[in-house]
Amino acid sequence: MEKIIVKKSPALVGSVRVSGAKNAALPILAASILGTEDIFLEDVPELKDVEIIIEVLESLGCKIEKLGKNNLKINSKNLNNTETDYQLMNKMRASFLVMGPLLARMGETSTSFPGGCNIGSRPIDLHLKGFEALGAKIDMNEDVIVASCDELVGANIYLDFPSVGATENIIMAATTAKGETIIDNAAKEPEIVDLANFLNKMGAKVMGAGTSTIQIKGVEKLRGCSHQIIPDRIEAGTFMVAAAISDGDIEVENVISSHMRPIIAKLIESGAKVIEDDDKIRVIGCKEKKAINIKTLPYPGFPTDMQAQFLALMTQLEGESHAIETVFENRFMHVNELKRMGANIEIDDRDAAVFGASKLHGAEVRATDLRAGAALILAGIVAEGETIISDIYHIDRGYEDIEEKFRSLGANIERINL
Ligand code: EPZ
Repeated sequence: MEKIIVKKSPALVGSVRVSGAKNAALPILAASILGTEDIFLEDVPELKDVEIIIEVLESLGCKIEKLGKNNLKINSKNLNNTETDYQLMNKMRASFLVMGPLLARMGETSTSFPGGCNIGSRPIDLHLKGFEALGAKIDMNEDVIVASCDELVGANIYLDFPSVGATENIIMAATTAKGETIIDNAAKEPEIVDLANFLNKMGAKVMGAGTSTIQIKGVEKLRGCSHQIIPDRIEAGTFMVAAAISDGDIEVENVISSHMRPIIAKLIESGAKVIEDDDKIRVIGCKEKKAINIKTLPYPGFPTDMQAQFLALMTQLEGESHAIETVFENRFMHVNELKRMGANIEIDDRDAAVFGASKLHGAEVRATDLRAGAALILAGIVAEGETIISDIYHIDRGYEDIEEKFRSLGANIERINL
């Protein structure tokens, strides 16, 4: 079984280029089902999750060619299947993002319920509510969902929660629906803006992405296009925290600063220095670290996908810090692992209180989700001795070449096969 070993490392120094955003690449790959002409994608990160959605697309009849590292050519002309394989859905719940495009393109789709995962039950009620509002009939038994429609007709849809996936699935379904669709209380994440930009290049008419009201005017047909995936703001944030926690000096390249506001603000509050420059951000850590409070919220609030990494940083901040997790109901699984390394953390429902600064020590720990895995690497860099991280398949789902990138900054990190 593969493990990652991290030993106490010197302050991390240097520059690192961020890969394309996983959470933009996945919906954009799903959206390629909507057209019958060639789609060219650049900066697609080479991750486990991307491999899985490619497997899903190929199982539906899409043709996908790798044109060198991070570049793909996709053609969905010969789409011949509308059933998502149970095994694949189980491997990655984001496979559920093919439902909207399949409904729009083929008028039917069937799939198993996407599994929950460690961070929460991950319901899909808002996705299904959107499909039904557009005219789809939904039949389900204990584990299979079938959605079908003669045609999709534009509708006004209110999302009870600004769900990222539901917003994406409904936008994709509505691109070729008859008439106009309005999504109210839509999610505003940058990855949704990237999806909308991609769809509009295909000839869709999606307006308002990035705001809470999105308007989609149905069109007859979508064409091919080329698109470069936006940078991964969560990977960028992870390396910015690495500079702060290790008193280092890291320049993160291929970044869109406007996507990083909450992360930049909280790093500055903790005492780090942040210098923004075009598509680069430099973070200089400092010895005097001050306690901070974060509260995860839908974008543009503090991202839940950065909560674990900041919890690791909080163990090194003087005083009492708090992290309140409002997006997922069970996203503190990494706390027990950090406590095994000597962190002083108390959880009260959605609020984790972190009392720092703690002298962390190496331990055998396990990654409980992909961001928790990254947090354990960050903690291992400053902990005395050796930290052995198992279940690292979580990390490989969301970080491309993670050890190489950390090693290039001076981290003492290696992957072993035990
Ligand atoms: C996306 O997941 C991301 N994944 C997650 O990133 C991210 O943490 C999450 O958005 C929040 O930003 C991808 O984009 C592939 P949601 P998603 O639907 O779409 C509730 C990572 O680390 N909800 O916005 O599944 C749900 O229970 C991953 O890269 C419903 O109630 O997130 C949760 O509490 C982890 N009903 C909240 O919304 C629904 O139908 C947020 O979920 C859908 C969601």
